[in-house]
Amino acid sequence: MRPDPGVTLSRDRGRRRIGGPLARWLAQQCPDGRVLAVDNDARYLDESGEPPLEWCEADARTLDFADGTFDVIHSRMTFCHLANRDEMISRALRWLRPGGWLALCDPMLMPAASSADPDVRRFFGAMELAWTAQGSDMVEWARALPNRLATAGFADVSVRPQANLLGDSGVYDQLAGANIEQEGAYLVERGLIPADVHERVLALLRGSRLVELRSITMYAWGRKPLSDGDGRR
Ligand SMILES: C[S@@+](CC[C@H](N)C(=O)[O-])C[C@H]1O[C@@H](n2cnc3c(N)ncnc32)[C@H](O)[C@@H]1O
Repeated sequence: MRPDPGVTLSRDRGRRRIGGPLARWLAQQCPDGRVLAVDNDARYLDESGEPPLEWCEADARTLDFADGTFDVIHSRMTFCHLANRDEMISRALRWLRPGGWLALCDPMLMPAASSADPDVRRFFGAMELAWTAQGSDMVEWARALPNRLATAGFADVSVRPQANLLGDSGVYDQLAGANIEQEGAYLVERGLIPADVHERVLALLRGSRLVELRSITMYAWGRKPLSDGDGRR
């Protein structure tokens, strides 16, 4: 990221009272630049952005910017929810200045059917159907990220995967527990799973009786070539 003026687009604006920690961090890195943070749901944001940080409540799928507007475009756990995610990678390439970077982070959830526990299989199976119905891809998209970036025309494509365990009492396990509480309420309300399945899954997690690989978080990034030959092997 350049510390000189320019615009950095970050998609980090999360469901926390003090939302957007990454957008705030980016803004600290470039006090003389600008950071534009986008999310279509502002319910959990209780502060307005202060320069160089600007909040924008918008549907990312419909955004457009002039060619070469941004130095860095970053998105965490959001492209997987955008039904037009492939097209968004091409748009991001256009919005970046030559030499600018796109950094994406999305989850690769383990398929529900591979869990050792029947209730967990049912619970995550229902979640998979709900995500697919709303246009999200939490299982296959992230694995394809490096290829998507390279195919779109990015150079210097690289990845850093991080494995996440249920049942190890770590940070991911705690986050997953909170998610499963919320998601279970959603599934039960809509009749997609019985309440006792949700309760048994929560009991398993609270009792640390299930230690299982739940996901791989895929960090992937690539650079917009400076010229036609740049980055070609
Ligand atoms: C898993 S959260 C990640 C939040 C934040 N980026 C972070 O890493 O903490 C996914 C976010 O994507 C946002 N989102 C989903 N669809 C969107 C869309 N079409 N346009 C903009 N934001 C969207 C949701 O409102 C939610 O805040």
